[in-house]
Amino acid sequence: MYRDYRPGVVAAMALEPGGRALDLACGTGPNLPLLAAAVGPAGHVLGVDFSGGMLTRARRRVAELPQVALLQHDARTLTSAEVGPIDAIISTLGLSVIPDPEAVLAAMWALLAPGGRFVIFDVYAERWVPASSWIKLIAQADLYRRPWEVLEGLGATVEREWLAGSPHIHGGRPYLLVARKP
Ligand SMILES: C[S@@+](CC[C@H](N)C(=O)[O-])C[C@H]1O[C@@H](n2cnc3c(N)ncnc32)[C@H](O)[C@@H]1O
Repeated sequence: MYRDYRPGVVAAMALEPGGRALDLACGTGPNLPLLAAAVGPAGHVLGVDFSGGMLTRARRRVAELPQVALLQHDARTLTSAEVGPIDAIISTLGLSVIPDPEAVLAAMWALLAPGGRFVIFDVYAERWVPASSWIKLIAQADLYRRPWEVLEGLGATVEREWLAGSPHIHGGRPYLLVARKP
């Protein structure tokens, strides 16, 4: 359902060869091969998730990608000392479901290097449609969250665009957000 969005979301991170990227709540790792290609063999990609089951599946996906590492950790308590400098962070379909998103955003923002980008792809329900309830039930998602407000409060310059996709499928409108750190 969301596969076709991923290359454009990774491109919005503006990664360069040798760069360092973090995939927040990477799940089974569908973004990781795209991130590995963007930073190249000299780069570094860290997939973070607190679910061991999700990371077991992600590990299979990145077995041939030595520039990718996986870390089982609560994103709320991740520190620069543990992960080193990060040029860009991606979150796809995570911030609508993870508990305590404000704390996660603050922790991630602190990891990002000056000039870095935090790129989010998720779904926001401007208005209720029948699928909103369905998505809430199946995915345990809160489609009314506005992470852009939290990021602006942290000092980010935020650009956000709606992406094509019927609210009747997603329960809301898919969006791409790019937050730049001064
Ligand atoms: C819907 S999945 C998103 C998976 C993936 N990003 C994707 O695009 O398919 C949400 C993930 O968030 C993880 N998660 C929730 N809270 C977390 C936290 N505090 N720290 C790290 N991972 C968390 C869950 O384990 C789950 O794998």
